[in-house]
Amino acid sequence: MEGVGIWVAESVHESALVSLLFLPPFLLWLGARGYKDWSLVRKYDSAIKHLGLKTPTGIKPTVLKVIELENHRKRVIVQAVGIDVKSFRDKKGSIDSSFNTIVQDISVSKGNRQNVEILISDKELPSLVTFESRKNRLKKPYSFLVGESFDNFIVANLCDIHHLLVAGTTGGGKSYFFKQAITGLLKSSQHIQVYLIDLKKGVETRPFRDLQNVRVAKDEPSAITYLQAVVDEMNRRFDFLEEKGFNEIDPARDGFDRIVVAVDEASNLFTLSKSSKEVKDRSILARELTDKIAKLGRAAAIHLILATQKVVKDTIDTRVQTNINAKVCFKVNSIPSSTTVLGNKNAFELPSTKGRAIWSYGTTELIVQVPRLNPDELNAEIELLKKKFNTPNSPVKMPMLSVGVQKKKKNPNVQINDQDIEEVDVEESK
Ligand SMILES: Nc1ncnc2c1ncn2[C@@H]1O[C@H](COP(=O)(O)OP(=O)(O)O)[C@@H](O)[C@H]1O
Ligand SMILES: [Mg+2]
Repeated sequence: MEGVGIWVAESVHESALVSLLFLPPFLLWLGARGYKDWSLVRKYDSAIKHLGLKTPTGIKPTVLKVIELENHRKRVIVQAVGIDVKSFRDKKGSIDSSFNTIVQDISVSKGNRQNVEILISDKELPSLVTFESRKNRLKKPYSFLVGESFDNFIVANLCDIHHLLVAGTTGGGKSYFFKQAITGLLKSSQHIQVYLIDLKKGVETRPFRDLQNVRVAKDEPSAITYLQAVVDEMNRRFDFLEEKGFNEIDPARDGFDRIVVAVDEASNLFTLSKSSKEVKDRSILARELTDKIAKLGRAAAIHLILATQKVVKDTIDTRVQTNINAKVCFKVNSIPSSTTVLGNKNAFELPSTKGRAIWSYGTTELIVQVPRLNPDELNAEIELLKKKFNTPNSPVKMPMLSVGVQKKKKNPNVQINDQDIEEVDVEESK
C-alpha cells in the first residue's frame, strides 16, 4: 500500500495531485447542482403540463430549462412548438398560481422562436410608493413619474410617448395618477401650457386653477371651446413649420409652448348620449377634435392625456386609441375591458392594491406601483409651481389660448365662489 502511495507521488505531477484532491468535492457539487436544476425543471414542467395547453395533435409544452437571475427572479424556458405565445399570456393568472410566484413577462425566445420564456419573480412590488420619495427623478423636461416596476423606476417623457391613456375601474387611482402626472410635467418643464377638462365640475382639478399656465373646463360646452382652440393652434403651428421648413416644433427654438390637453373621465365627453341632438352633436365634435390632436399633435408639440373608466368604441373612439400607444391601466373588472385597452386580460388579473397598474408602451408591458400624490402634497406642489409660473419671469413663452371670457353666473340662486370666476361662458365667447 505504501508502495502505491510512493508510486503515485513520484509519477503524478504535483499540480495533477492537487486537482485529484479537489475533483471529488467538485463532482459532488456539480451533481448537487445538476439535481437542483433538474428538480426545478421537473417542478415547473409538471405545473405547465397542468395548464391544459396543447397543440391540435395533443402535444403539451415542455419546460427545457430554468435559469436563476438576480433579484429573486427566474427565467423558465418552455418548448412550445405550435402553441402561440398568446395562449400562454391568456393563462397568466393560472401560471401565477400553479408556479406559486408572480409572472412578470411572457415572450417568445429571441434565439429560438419555437420556445416561450416566462419571467417569474418571488418578489412583490411595494404597496405604496410616494411622489415625495421619487420626485427627484423628474429631471428631463416634459417628463412625469410612471411607477416602480420589478426592475426599476419608470419615468416617461411626453416627447417620446406623445399621448397617454389612463384607464381602470373607479377607485383604482386614475384621478390621483392624472393629477400626479400633470404635476410632474409642470414641475419638470419650462415652456408648457395645460388645458384640463374636468367634467366633474372641476372638483378633482381645483388646485391647478391657481396656476396661470393652466386652464380648467368644467362642462361640455367649454370643453369643446378648449379642444377647438387647441386644434386652431395646431393648424397655426403647421403653417409655421411649413414656412420654416422644420419637421416639428421645438419650444425652446420656436417660441411656442408645449401644450397638454388632459381630460379626466373622458368617456363623459365622448359617449354618444341618446338625449338631445345638441348633446349628441357635441360628443361627435369632441371626438373629431380629439382625433385630430391624437393624429397630428406630436409634430406640433401638442399632447393628449385621457383618463377614462370605460374604454370601448362608444367612449374612446378606436381612431383615437390607435394613435395612443402609451397606457397606464389600473385594475378593470372584466376581461373584455382589459382586452380593449391592452389586448390581453392582464389588467383584469391585477391585484386590488390601490395604485397598482400596467404600464404599456410599444412592446413593453410592465406591472407598476404608481406614485401617490395625496391632496395635501398636491397643494404644497402647487404653491411651488405658483412661484415658478405665476411671476413676470414665468418661463411660459406665449399667452394662453383664447378659450372664452371669464364670467360670473347670472342665476342668483347659484352661489358664486372664487373658483366660478374662472368658468368659461361659451355662448359669450362665440
Ligand atoms: N398611487 C396610489 N397609491 C396608493 N393609494 C392610492 C393611489 N392612488 C389612489 N389611491 C387611493 O385610491 C383612492 C381612489 O383613487 P382615485 O384616483 O380617485 O380613483 P379613480 O379616479 O380611479 O376612481 C384615493 O382616494 C386614494 O386613497
Ligand atoms: Mg376619478
